[in-house]
Amino acid sequence: MTFFICSNCGFGSASWYGKCPDCGAWNSLKERPDFEKKSSIKKEPLKKISITSLKSIKNEKKSRIKTGIFELDRVLGGGFLPGEVILLTGEPGIGKSTLILQALKNINTLYISGEESGEQVKERAERLNVNLDNFLFSNDLQIEGIIESASEIKEKIKILVIDSIQTVYSKNIEGTPSGINQIKESTKLLVNFAKKNNVVVIIIGHITKEGDIAGPKTLEHFVDAVLQFEGEKISNYRLIRALKNRFGSTDEIGIFEMTENGLKEINNSLVFLEDKNNLTQPGKAIVGVPQGKRPFFFEIQTLVSSSILPVPRRVVKGLDYNKVLLLLAVIKKQLNYSLDNYDIYVNVISGVSIKSTSADLGFVASIISSFKNKPLPNSSVFVGEVGLLGEVRKVYLEEKIIQEAKRLGFKKIFSSNNIQNIKQFLDFI
Ligand code: TYD
Ligand code: MG
Repeated sequence: MTFFICSNCGFGSASWYGKCPDCGAWNSLKERPDFEKKSSIKKEPLKKISITSLKSIKNEKKSRIKTGIFELDRVLGGGFLPGEVILLTGEPGIGKSTLILQALKNINTLYISGEESGEQVKERAERLNVNLDNFLFSNDLQIEGIIESASEIKEKIKILVIDSIQTVYSKNIEGTPSGINQIKESTKLLVNFAKKNNVVVIIIGHITKEGDIAGPKTLEHFVDAVLQFEGEKISNYRLIRALKNRFGSTDEIGIFEMTENGLKEINNSLVFLEDKNNLTQPGKAIVGVPQGKRPFFFEIQTLVSSSILPVPRRVVKGLDYNKVLLLLAVIKKQLNYSLDNYDIYVNVISGVSIKSTSADLGFVASIISSFKNKPLPNSSVFVGEVGLLGEVRKVYLEEKIIQEAKRLGFKKIFSSNNIQNIKQFLDFI
């Protein structure tokens, strides 16, 4: 059997296509007549395994490399660990390169940039007060060459930055840079390099507005940590979170403000709200959510409007799409609302995405509020998970969120303490 492989994404097929059905690249399917021979399993002799007691394995104490940016160090779990590979993702222009330059200000670094020239990087680094003596730079993008040269100076560097993975390429892989095969191969080589030489590797990867991380997403299981930088380019607030972290927790977040002089750390749980006392529009609800060990407050906006479409629209930004569908089903069943003839748009203000179930109650309230065209009580906040039967459940850190909400002056706090089932909303919204 002849086998065709897409040189861009690795898709395999028994028949040839002009356009790859998987990634859409043209003319990328190449014949692999030797496929079966190559892939046939080699006979390996039986190998006994060596067994040791866990106790006898020596602990290797590695000290963390602190960046000095508290909000970032916390998300990393206390700083970088030597030999760690970190994938930093975010939309183009959100501030990834800026964050990295600032974080590595005083750490010996080799910075590979396929995005900007040396002059551009230098100009920015000077503006951000980076210690230029610590910074080595290159614009060359062949991954084998990068690794060879980095290995030669491994005593001089603690960190290798690849900005971005979409611009480097391997000489051994066909296909354009940024193709899935290319970025996978480059990442594998970088992981080997990091582990062998105890150098931290930071891989920057762009993701698109729609959250389509087709490229970087496939790299998540190769790396030790995945950090995502989020925010709306028009607002200045930025949020960093760990989607995966082998050496720390994944629910801490760090908050920054983008200023003329780079990113500034922010320690204020209200930054994502415009005005908590101004809930005069229907469909607007403020939710209290745990992020790591800190409570945060976000604004959810929902628009329910009559639809002319046979299948009404559900557009969701900032909440989990399937969770929204699930809660809509709960609302329909428990409150007897017929939302089938309505389009529903949901948005979390500031470009943040909320992962916690603690936002459920506020989302349900915002739907009812928009549907009835009635604003929610002024200065109110919602904290709670909603179950399939409409019951309101306690969430992690609930008491702490409520305390913080009181301290900030919210006047009405809705939670499992005063609402047992979403049916009770009907009495006052
Ligand atoms: P950048 O770090 O280049 O984003 P990314 O690497 O994610 O593509 O950030 C680019 C934006 O940040 C750009 O629009 C300019 C803005 N910026 C500031 O507002 N202040 C600053 O001090 C810097 C360095 C950048
Ligand atoms: Mg950049």
